[in-house]
Amino acid sequence: MIGYGFMGRAHSNAWRQVSHFFPLKARVEMHTICGRDRAHVEAARAQLGWQYAGTDWREVVESPLIDIVDICTSNASHTEIALAAARAGKHILCEKPLALDSANAEKMLAAVRKFRVRNTVVFNYRRVPAIAYAKQMIDSGQLGQLRHFRGTYLQDWISDPKFPMNWRLRKETAGSGSHGDLNAHLIDTARFLVGDIAETVGLQETFIAERPKEGQAIGLTATTGKGTEKVTVDDATAFLAKFAPGKNAAPGAYATIEATRLAPGHKNYNYFEINGSEGSLSFCFERMNELQYCNRNDAPDKPGFKTILCTEGSHPYFGAWWPPGHVIGYEHTFIHTVSDFINGVATGTDVHADFLDGAKCVAVLESVVASKKAKGWVKVANIK
Ligand SMILES: NC(=O)c1ccc[n+]([C@@H]2O[C@H](COP(=O)([O-])OP(=O)(O)OC[C@H]3O[C@@H](n4cnc5c(N)ncnc54)[C@H](O)[C@@H]3O)[C@@H](O)[C@H]2O)c1
Repeated sequence: MIGYGFMGRAHSNAWRQVSHFFPLKARVEMHTICGRDRAHVEAARAQLGWQYAGTDWREVVESPLIDIVDICTSNASHTEIALAAARAGKHILCEKPLALDSANAEKMLAAVRKFRVRNTVVFNYRRVPAIAYAKQMIDSGQLGQLRHFRGTYLQDWISDPKFPMNWRLRKETAGSGSHGDLNAHLIDTARFLVGDIAETVGLQETFIAERPKEGQAIGLTATTGKGTEKVTVDDATAFLAKFAPGKNAAPGAYATIEATRLAPGHKNYNYFEINGSEGSLSFCFERMNELQYCNRNDAPDKPGFKTILCTEGSHPYFGAWWPPGHVIGYEHTFIHTVSDFINGVATGTDVHADFLDGAKCVAVLESVVASKKAKGWVKVANIK
């Protein structure tokens, strides 16, 4: 595993827990965790349960003792690490967004294909049981043909103009702001549940153009340094999208998608609603064990939404956990991801979301930025 910040901790927990709950087709050995600072990575190793600590990711990636490389670093380094890992024949889990742009994402896709290694992008929300169940409902036709996807991903952690700079606020390390960070998840959910996105038009805004310089960065928080620095990414991005023709999307199906990190009161409000010809579904991560479902054919005196508590043994992934009603949380989505990936590697089967999904997501992100410049609709590059 490369990187030991927020995602490094979430993924380490997943690698540590997975065999205690899921039947695996291979044995997990948490071999080496890698960072740039010897003392910090050594502390992370001890706390997170890894055997060895390294400070040179190239050495770690090339070690013959390692089969899987888990990339938990900031966005700009995903490409270089993944290319080296693929070349070394390692299977790769990579955090989202896959790359800073689609040129780099396509290089990564070509490399995993050339070296025939399993690959996945950690779009962990696909493995929230409620969302995985929404997928089953949609694929079995319960919503009919889908017409609308309405997604909003709202956070507030940079609302204070005094919040200092970090890598997420610089284009060279993050690629974009709320767009690649949060819209990437909504785009993946929309693609997972409805289908490919063909065209977009959007707008972006940076409301707080300068922030105090970064002091010492620790995960999402940082101490404040001296002076200010220009913010080079969006604080908020909203766009319209037209879906490509597909199995689930009705002709003319469209999405509205919005992300901001300047919505006071919202912490991780990853919300979507889907309206189909036969019914509607909605989900909010802050109540992640539930789906809201309306079947328009319900008896006329009982219209409206009902809550489905997705904690039955019959719901995806839930059978590995607790009795019904004993809810699960954020960390479980990573355990589910790691479980599917290990079994995919062990049995030689593909694991969604793969690098093709990751590259398609980057192409949608990019089209929105291009549409802002073009002041009109832009076609999404058709990555195959
Ligand atoms: N799937 C999700 O829901 C989700 C949530 C948060 C973050 N992410 C993604 O995970 C990735 C990491 O984000 P985070 O929140 O953990 O960030 P973070 O700042 O908490 O941690 C990043 C880590 O990467 C390390 N790092 C950076 N460059 C490195 C290099 N060249 N060599 C070795 N280590 C290096 C840093 O030292 C740090 O340990 C990002 O791509 C982010 O978009 C995904």
